[in-house]
Amino acid sequence: MKAPAVRPYHWLAQYYDDFFLPIHSPLDAARERLLQRILPGVKSACDLACGTGTTAIGFARRGIRTYALDLSPHMCKLARQKVRSTRFRVPVLQADMRSFKLPERVDLITCEGDALNHIPRKQDLRSVARCVARALQPGGYFFFSINSPIGFRKYWTGTVCLEKPGAVMVMRSGHSAKADKAWSDIDWFIRQGRSWQRRRERVEEVSWTRDDIRHVFLMAGFEQLRAWDAAPFFKDNAMMSPGCYNLYLARKS
Ligand SMILES: C[S@@+](CC[C@H](N)C(=O)[O-])C[C@H]1O[C@@H](n2cnc3c(N)ncnc32)[C@H](O)[C@@H]1O
Repeated sequence: MKAPAVRPYHWLAQYYDDFFLPIHSPLDAARERLLQRILPGVKSACDLACGTGTTAIGFARRGIRTYALDLSPHMCKLARQKVRSTRFRVPVLQADMRSFKLPERVDLITCEGDALNHIPRKQDLRSVARCVARALQPGGYFFFSINSPIGFRKYWTGTVCLEKPGAVMVMRSGHSAKADKAWSDIDWFIRQGRSWQRRRERVEEVSWTRDDIRHVFLMAGFEQLRAWDAAPFFKDNAMMSPGCYNLYLARKS
């Protein structure tokens, strides 16, 4: 059966860096720490679900030949703009992580910021794992971070309002333990001249346990899978308690 379509980020893309880049730094620190032995040997990489391209540009800055890939046309456009504002060359590919192909096999693929949770059906993680395995060199690494079912219960609930100059984001979130899904209905209030426009967007996520992840990646041809709780990297964030968010490193056979 054909995999269901994902609603690509629109307003979330436009305001992603304003609202979310400031809280990305614990993930940057985690990546640096957990990949410190691997990164010096990495010659080529791809950031999957690259968002606005910040992580990919960071790899290119280290001299790594880098690709960036995202489903959302708006995210790809912003990532290309960000790449153009640097002196680096990072091809930005618009593709779905469930079916992507890269022009060459790479040493490292990353997929951060719970992008993997955005897959509409849990079983489609197998397609992602197969595509990642195909895109990696033998012995290559896949580094990713995801929300767990505990994370859904803990913080995909209630209403959160965030404000930046010219934009207000009201997120009403919920989850269903039975369906193992979480969602956020986002109302955007965007200033246009002297008036405010209201826009709507919905994000849905699924989650996996560590056992699910281990099973899928071993089946796809990965020989090692290490997992870390992200909480110690988010010490200043009271929302991020143990068990909610995990970091993984899988090595292809
Ligand atoms: C929460 S953002 C994370 C962006 C970036 N990785 C970061 O850490 O800042 C999730 C990203 O996943 C992308 N995405 C969602 N589903 C996707 C899919 N099936 N294939 C590729 N990208 C996808 C979205 O467009 C969005 O850019």
